[in-house]
Amino acid sequence: MNIDLASDLASDLAPDLVRTFPFPFPQDIYRYSTNVERAGAAVETPAGQWGESVVHIDSEYAHELGERQAILGRDPSRMQVLPHMRASAWDAMLTIMQALALAHPEQMVLEREGEGETFLWTNRLLGIEQRFSYGDEDTLPDEPLTFIGAQVQEDIALLDQREGQLFVDAGLVTFAADWSFGFDVGMSFLEIHGPVPRVHQTGVIARAQKFLMRLQADAPHRRTNWSLTVGRRLDVSTETYPEWGPDRTRILTVDDDAFGAEVHLRVEVQHLVRLPESGSVMFLIRTYLLPLEAIAGIEPWRARLHAVLAELPEDMADYKGFIAYRDRAVQWLSARAPQEG
Ligand code: HEM
Repeated sequence: MNIDLASDLASDLAPDLVRTFPFPFPQDIYRYSTNVERAGAAVETPAGQWGESVVHIDSEYAHELGERQAILGRDPSRMQVLPHMRASAWDAMLTIMQALALAHPEQMVLEREGEGETFLWTNRLLGIEQRFSYGDEDTLPDEPLTFIGAQVQEDIALLDQREGQLFVDAGLVTFAADWSFGFDVGMSFLEIHGPVPRVHQTGVIARAQKFLMRLQADAPHRRTNWSLTVGRRLDVSTETYPEWGPDRTRILTVDDDAFGAEVHLRVEVQHLVRLPESGSVMFLIRTYLLPLEAIAGIEPWRARLHAVLAELPEDMADYKGFIAYRDRAVQWLSARAPQEG
């Protein structure tokens, strides 16, 4: 890639994607932890802020919803509701509608008609006006999870709580980071986290499950997770590995401008919500991408990401999938430190 194309890419980035980017590192050293906190409080960053609401719409809304529809069209296994989770899917849909209406009252409205179970849902961004009876699938054009999944940028997983454990028994996940929803559906929380290094010995996952099983309906929580990725591709799921896997080594062959434009910090803001009617746990995953060249424009972010990547243990960089180009990223960030004097 030549220099002009690289700078075109930087200037193409809508300003809100920098302003609301959830930069995830409070320290120079990153380790896995049960990093959950109450949702809803905005977090100030050197570029702006994030985290005011459980669902977040930004300038990628139309583009990401289009991606999701295309992925679902090619691979319907990305949306699954095991039979005992049908009530949870309705619960999730209504809870997400309420969250959208709270976050975007100008565009999103949920009205209950009378004392009954009939609602009118309006999404002005998409021109949707839908009257439905809660629990009656004949009153929606799609299954409830498909219907609401076409209106939020978040991926959705629903966990059933039984026999003292959590099971991922439903969801609509099109933007998985190196895992497969179709493979994982029906698994327990502990099984799903089987491949993650360190978290079993350190008790992170056992603590997380305990925490989730006590989650209260009126107290949504959130956490972040992160990785590096090549390009702005959201669907880096196991299913499509042949399409994106080779980028992990191809990126070593590009020049510095292209490297800064193509390598992205990929951050997930994950919300954990107890659904009020069904008692299931809803896990929302909202994925954000910011290229290194944009991170380098905000000095505290450049310095912090440089420190984290330089220190990150091998097994974690390997599991996160960027071991091949970690050193190059560290050098790239280091070369963009402000000059002394
Ligand atoms: C991966 C922790 C909730 C599904 C991970 C990783 C950590 C983690 C540390 C490794 C991430 C990385 O290095 O990129 C936690 C904690 C949670 C939580 C502390 C709650 C407090 C959930 C929930 C789900 C989930 C509710 C439900 C779907 C996954 C999956 C992976 C993952 C699918 C990828 C595993 C793989 O490599 O196949 N989680 N997690 N997590 N988590 Fe969680």
